[in-house]
Formats: sequence, structure tokens, C-alpha cells
Amino acid sequence: MENPFVYGEVVPAASFVDRIDELDRLVRDLASGQKVFLISPRRYGKSSLIRQALRAAGRRGALTAEITVSSYSSYLAFLEGYTRTLLTVQTGWEKARTWLRDAIGAARPEVRLEADSSGVMGFAVKFPTVRTERDISRLAADVFALPGRICDLRGRTMAIALDEFQAIRGFNGGSVEHTIRAAVQHQRSVGYVFAGSEPSLMERMLGSKRPFYKAGPVMRLEKIPPELFAPFIESRFSKTGIKPEPGLGMSIVDLAGNMPYDVQRLAHESWDDAKAAGKRRIGVEDLHHTLHRLLAEQDTMFEAVWQRLTLGQRATLRAVVLAEGRELLSADLRERYRLGGSSTVQAALQALVREDLIARDPDRYAVVDSLMREWIARKTF
Ligand SMILES: Nc1ncnc2c1ncn2[C@@H]1O[C@H](COP(=O)(O)OP(=O)(O)OP(=O)(O)O)[C@@H](O)[C@H]1O
Ligand SMILES: [Mg+2]
Repeated sequence: MENPFVYGEVVPAASFVDRIDELDRLVRDLASGQKVFLISPRRYGKSSLIRQALRAAGRRGALTAEITVSSYSSYLAFLEGYTRTLLTVQTGWEKARTWLRDAIGAARPEVRLEADSSGVMGFAVKFPTVRTERDISRLAADVFALPGRICDLRGRTMAIALDEFQAIRGFNGGSVEHTIRAAVQHQRSVGYVFAGSEPSLMERMLGSKRPFYKAGPVMRLEKIPPELFAPFIESRFSKTGIKPEPGLGMSIVDLAGNMPYDVQRLAHESWDDAKAAGKRRIGVEDLHHTLHRLLAEQDTMFEAVWQRLTLGQRATLRAVVLAEGRELLSADLRERYRLGGSSTVQAALQALVREDLIARDPDRYAVVDSLMREWIARKTF
């Protein structure tokens, strides 16, 4: 029997919890050609939501395309990858090739049919003659105009997702943002979702002096309500023949800090342990058993992270765990955890946020990885 919990990848529809309102809004916005910005910290479920939204858009007759901006090592590689992704919505490869030469002939695209690493045949696109910054800028304008042309040609609407969009900054500073904004604002039949997992970068990108200012609606993805997540977990255990002790779902959600990824990880791993032991019931004690196993497995990695921190950062990180991230700058806490002056603590907190080890919730700081939080509480002094 297959484990009903999934983590570390886009969740399949069967393990997808809630997000009903968000999905509904996203699908509607995409259908009406809006340019939506989807923002949340890491691992809240942006990519999973996008996948569901594009699927729904596809069922309504839109052409869809999805690309992860951060996977590319250069601006040109991204443009090639994006062109390739857009080409796959064209049917028939001869037709696609001819069409592309027509659309961006100046950059002399090379289109090949190639097997990818898993043996699946697909297009490969290269622009071998594009070399200088100016060539790239010109090419970019053509590439970002492609979705509009596809819609005209096919007489269909389109929904496009650019995931990990904050990575666009790395390519060529502000000019990429300009080029994209200029192209997409004329594409009335193309809905876009720009999703980013570094909230501060994304919010800055939407600031009043930047090209995407007021370009479209902003969706800030929150955690999944515990009262929906917990029963979902219990029902999956029951359905797969493992009876959960009352309250187990909520214990998992709590231990995982209600981070969608961490919740699914703990559920998945406890399910595995229960199955391996041939258990028909599962309780909080089993949960702690699994938690210990996971901590032991990650020990080396957490240790390495810990070693990289300065002493001040270590003390601050411990204080975030022990004081549950609240009032860290107060004289009382600084003294209790021997943190030093408030500016020192402030600097340490900033460094820890930058390192993606802690995140700022509305009213407190929290350790991003719930396993790491447990490790710090148990293994550091
Ligand atoms: N709606 C959901 N229902 C159940 N689990 C979810 C849901 N959304 C996310 N998860 C859990 O969180 C994990 C991370 O989800 P996803 O990759 O979609 O997040 P993300 O915000 O795109 O993360 P990243 O910033 O790392 O790209 C999933 O593998 C799954 O375990
Ligand atoms: Mg993602």
C-alpha cells in the first residue's frame, strides 16, 4: 500500500488540502488575463497551488505553461528554457519550429527534438548566435512576446506560471523586470502567476519605483488552517488501515509548527514506521519515536549548520527556540539567555533570517525547520 502523505515535491491532487478560496481566486484571475503575484515563505505550498490552478485552467480550455526561474544559470539559458516550454504547447514539431523561426527569426533559433535525462522526447531550443548583452535584451523582448502570439494563432487563452520568480533579479538587474512588464501588460488573453518564496524580495519588487508596481493582484499564501489539516491526516491514516489515536492529527500539526511541508514529512515518516512495524494503531508515542529517528538522521546536517554560526547567532537561535520567538529584544530575555546588547541581537536575528533558518511570523520569530527546532532544543546548550 502506498504512503498517502507526500513531501518534498508538488503534492498530487489526492494529498492536496484546502486552499479552496485561493485556488478559486487564482483560477478566476488567470482566466481573466490578470498578472497575479503569489508570495509566501518557503514550503508553504505555492508550487502545489500553481499546479492545481494550471490544471483547472487547462480543463477550462486554456493553454498552460509552467517554468521555474531559479533553475537556470543564466539569463540566456532561462530564455532558451522558457521558449522551449512555450513551444511544447504547440502541436507538431515541424510546425512549432517553423512558427518559432517566424516569430523570432532574428535570433536564429535552433530547435531540435531531443530526449531529456529521463528519456522523454521533447524540444531543445538554443540561440547560438546571441552573444552580447544587447542581443540578449532584444531576444528577451521577442521571447516574452511569444505567449501573446500563441494565443492569437491558436485562438485560445493561456495561463502561465513563473515559479521562484524572485530569481529573475539575478539575471540582469531591473531590466528583466522592465522587459517582462512591458510585454505582459499588452497580453489580454494571457494570465500570469509570478510566484516567489522570498517575501521581502518579492514585496520590494512590487514597490512604487519598480516596474511591477500595481501590475496585478497580490496573493499572500498563509499556512493551512490546523482544523482542516489535522482531520485530513487522521482520515488518511484510517483509510490506509492505521487507526489514529484521538488528537494525533493535531499533535502532528503542532510538532511540525503547521508548516505544510513539515506536517506531511512527519505524517509520511510515522506512517512508514507504523507500516514497517505492522501496526494497526498509531499514537503520540509512535510520533515521538519517529521524531527521534528523523533527528538522528539529520544530526550531521544540523551540526554542520550550527558550526557555521557565530556564538552570538547560536545564542540567539537558542533563545528563539526556548522563548518561542517572542520579546527577544527585551532586557529580561537578553539577560536570561546571555544575548548581549539589543543591537547585537538584532544583527544576529537578521543574519539568521538571511540564512533562512528563522522566519518572521506576524507576532514572533520561528525556526523554519521544525526538526531543526527540536534538535536545537535537545542537543545544544
Ligand atoms: N495544499 C496542501 N496540502 C497538503 N500539503 C501541502 C499543500 N501544499 C503544500 N503541502 C506540503 O508542502 C510541501 C511543499 O509544497 P510546495 O513545494 O508546493 O511549496 P512551495 O511554497 O512551492 O515551496 P518552495 O518555496 O520550497 O518552492 C509539499 O511537498 C507538501 O508536503
Ligand atoms: Mg515551489
